Amino acid sequence: MKALILSGGMGTRLRPLTHAMPKQLIPLANKPVLFHALEAVRDAGITEAGVIVGDWHKEIRQAVGDGSRFGLRVEYLYQEAPFGLAHCVLIARDFLGDDDFAMYLGDNVFGDGITGPAEHFRRTRPAAQVAVTPVDAPQEYGVVETDPGGRVRALREKPRRPRSNLAVTGAYFFTPLVHDAVRAIEPSRRGEREITDALQWLVDQGHDVRAVEVTGWWKDTGRVEDILDGNRLLLDGIESRVEGSVDAASTALGPVVVAPGARIVRSHLRGPLVIGADCVVEDSYIGPHTAIGAGCVLNEAGVTDSILLDGAAVSDVNGIHASVIGRSARVGATAAGTSRHRLVVGDHTELDVVA
Ligand code: DAU
Repeated sequence: MKALILSGGMGTRLRPLTHAMPKQLIPLANKPVLFHALEAVRDAGITEAGVIVGDWHKEIRQAVGDGSRFGLRVEYLYQEAPFGLAHCVLIARDFLGDDDFAMYLGDNVFGDGITGPAEHFRRTRPAAQVAVTPVDAPQEYGVVETDPGGRVRALREKPRRPRSNLAVTGAYFFTPLVHDAVRAIEPSRRGEREITDALQWLVDQGHDVRAVEVTGWWKDTGRVEDILDGNRLLLDGIESRVEGSVDAASTALGPVVVAPGARIVRSHLRGPLVIGADCVVEDSYIGPHTAIGAGCVLNEAGVTDSILLDGAAVSDVNGIHASVIGRSARVGATAAGTSRHRLVVGDHTELDVVA
């Protein structure tokens, strides 16, 4: 079985971060979302992956390379514009040949990976299989209706009135029959070739399409809140590893990762958290569920439940919470006594300051 990993798209809901990087390279627990995807694919016993890339192809190629460090052989497939998930299958025809394949959305993370659903597919080999999970807001996803045995009767993309709470997650498994389906369908009202329509076409032709529930949590990291949730969930699974230095005046509680070259001075660390290589943290408090990228500088700072990307700096500001701070961005305080905010805010940025 091969894998087709979708790493194109625009990531508009994640601006301003996605002005500077593709959403698939945003780090969760200090590792790009896409790396979690590549590892899940590898752990499912797959060795050959085609990665769909769009405008950010250079950055993704640079980060992933030939895939060997993930134990994969990676080939890149260029998509001119995000014409839809089924369009990705269309353009991957030569790469996929007549093999079965797993299609994995490169902005998705599964707590238990995709090994379970992949094994189920290999064992039962229906025409197609989708990994599903119950959600609170099914109207934001593809939604399946199944019979009690798990056979799919109908699928709808982001329906206004969902008929079930079972969302299609970002892991699909296909036999080569899907190639007929993606050729047969037309673009939807939003102008995309929808994979849900291709699956519906298979159902309508009488083919066996199955829904398998994922075990563990699942996150589509389409919005900032989802990124923070994903970060939290992944940090919940970490184990302590201190390779940098933590001085005697500092405290560390709970699972804490301090990467090589990082220096923690007179600070309080409350895990689960990760601190990247070569950071300098002085007189600061870093709270639970926080991921600090490489080369960050924190001075008299208080940060909880947040993500700092590489090279970010925070000084003299406490109470930073549920925040994402971009690469080499700086957050500081104005001189004592002034009640003014000095802001240099990039396009599509969100700021909430104390009124
Ligand atoms: O995350 C699960 C949901 O993913 C499913 O429930 C929906 O049925 C499915 O359509 C999809 O919906 P999204 O609106 O979340 O898809 P998004 O546009 O975010 O694209 C998912 C991934 O695929 C993302 O990594 C970008 C990539 N992509 C997307 C499109 C449309 C491509 O590489 N090329 C594309 O043309």
